[in-house]
Amino acid sequence: MDVQLSFFPELEGTRLATRHAGNPEHNRVQGADAIVHDWYRFILAYPPHLVRTYLERFAVMPDHTVLDPFSGTGTTIVECKKRSISGIGSDANPIAVLASRTKSDWIANPDSLRLRASRIAERAGETDQSILRTLTPDAEALVSRGAISPLPLHKTLNLLDAIREEPNTPPHLLLALAKALVSSISNLWFAPGVTVGPAKADAPVIESWLNNVNTIAADLELMQPNTVTTTVHHADARTLCDVLTPGSIDAVITSPPYPNESDYSRATRLESVLLGYLNNRLDAQTLKQTLLCSSSRNVYQGDTDDAWVAGNDRVQRIASEIEQKRQDLGKTDGFSRLYARAVKLYFGGMRRHLRSLKPALKDGASLAYVVGDQASFLQVHIHTGEILAEIAESEGYTIAGVDLFRTRQATKTGKQMREEVVLLRWTP
Ligand SMILES: C[S@@+](CC[C@H](N)C(=O)[O-])C[C@H]1O[C@@H](n2cnc3c(N)ncnc32)[C@H](O)[C@@H]1O
Repeated sequence: MDVQLSFFPELEGTRLATRHAGNPEHNRVQGADAIVHDWYRFILAYPPHLVRTYLERFAVMPDHTVLDPFSGTGTTIVECKKRSISGIGSDANPIAVLASRTKSDWIANPDSLRLRASRIAERAGETDQSILRTLTPDAEALVSRGAISPLPLHKTLNLLDAIREEPNTPPHLLLALAKALVSSISNLWFAPGVTVGPAKADAPVIESWLNNVNTIAADLELMQPNTVTTTVHHADARTLCDVLTPGSIDAVITSPPYPNESDYSRATRLESVLLGYLNNRLDAQTLKQTLLCSSSRNVYQGDTDDAWVAGNDRVQRIASEIEQKRQDLGKTDGFSRLYARAVKLYFGGMRRHLRSLKPALKDGASLAYVVGDQASFLQVHIHTGEILAEIAESEGYTIAGVDLFRTRQATKTGKQMREEVVLLRWTP
């Protein structure tokens, strides 16, 4: 494998752990980039300028179609839409699908949104606060203890009812609430995993939601009209051939999960529960099973993705090293026992994804995968980008290069970890 490293100058010295520490507002995008992108973002999102860089590098034109198979909050497709390029997003997490779909829906009428929002706010403000409403026990069990205080929760449930009473609720009103939940209503902090910070006795629920709706309405005024087609699928990236038209994709710009021992469904848990996407343990388990395995907490018995890398020496070596280290350290807890398997499942899942993507790609398609090195599994270093490039090559892709995007400081060891962009070409 001949890999050429090049450096991504805009973010020299940036450390993800520092950028995202503490308040979720730290993950905000600034200036013109805030327009639409900031309607809802999560800590896993990458910056819009990264997408711009590769749209330019790949010479993507308005008649091209760009795919993001792990679209998260829709950064790729929104950036494409801003440039009148057709985008296709896809994600297995329903809240991410809501975010991507809404952020690429610029048809909603801003005045009507404002009018409906003030009507809803009035109704929600009139509700009784003498007996506080709570989540069902099944839903409550899914949310971290203390993630939201009783009074803000009560107000949020009332607001949600008032939003839902509105005929044909535009999704923008729900997304505005999802954002208000993580940015001002809840007690959640992102550092960079999700933690519960100091409890707020009260929170400006209706006000922060209204603020977000007004921002969306103002952005819609700036962005209209734009008729470029954007589609978002609720789909598993490992079975994409089921939803994509053969030979339709010119470029892929994406950031899949990393094998970083973080449970991707947790980052969006509170808003997923409150908006009704997750109602009980079974829903949460089902979601985890449709996500690529990136943590020993997501390993489940029937997952056979590891078979896809049974012949990959490098992945097998890393898995053996992790297992050996576990035994040397005498770690016998359930999660440690699953570490080695989680790594194999991750790379196997990525291989399945790359295989499933092939029929949809046009001859000559360019692909950019943003992935990070990891040492979360008992500090065994995993060169994610290099391994992914090797797997892609074995699937018939050509490696066009590996860019260094930025470095991050590993929380446990303080070591600098590389976050890279693996560049591929599809020329069958
Ligand atoms: C690093 S995030 C992407 C963030 C995105 N670039 C953004 O700017 O918001 C990875 C995404 O992959 C999604 N994901 C994980 N496993 C998946 C799978 N098997 N199929 C589709 N999406 C998946 C997660 O739900 C998450 O939204």
